[in-house]
Amino acid sequence: MDLSPLAEPAPTEQYRDLIEAARGAAARAYAPYSHFRVGAAVLGGSGRVYTGCNVENSSYSVTLCAERNAVGTAVAAGETTLVAVAVASPGPDPDDLTPCGMCRQFLAEFGEGIVVVCRQGGAWRATELRRLLPGAFVLGAG
Ligand code: THU
Repeated sequence: MDLSPLAEPAPTEQYRDLIEAARGAAARAYAPYSHFRVGAAVLGGSGRVYTGCNVENSSYSVTLCAERNAVGTAVAAGETTLVAVAVASPGPDPDDLTPCGMCRQFLAEFGEGIVVVCRQGGAWRATELRRLLPGAFVLGAG
């Protein structure tokens, strides 16, 4: 999926550490079924970084994505202001590795302005979540 018209090139300097943290988390993925390792790193408003990896399950649909794992880690640490999230895989960069729909909605709970740093169309991009998930569900809205 080429989302490049919606995205700005990521300022690599700004997000390099976050991407590396996501890569480190991906190395710890539990992915015996898909063998597709994913890591996510969330930058909190405090400046702290929280990581998560995908955790698969023999009942496939129970699988936890890296992004939701990282957000859960942040919230459990008391961090509910989320500034940015990077998503990475430890191998060669895929053309596209964007958060799944469920994870986009999960992130939207904490602000549609969260910057999502991920691979889109063969490049690192930094995109506001609202552009990846227009019209996120909000309880009671409308
Ligand atoms: N996966 C994630 O961790 N994050 C995503 O945004 C997309 C998919 C994981 C779930 C599963 O373990 C594997 O990638 C293959 O779908």
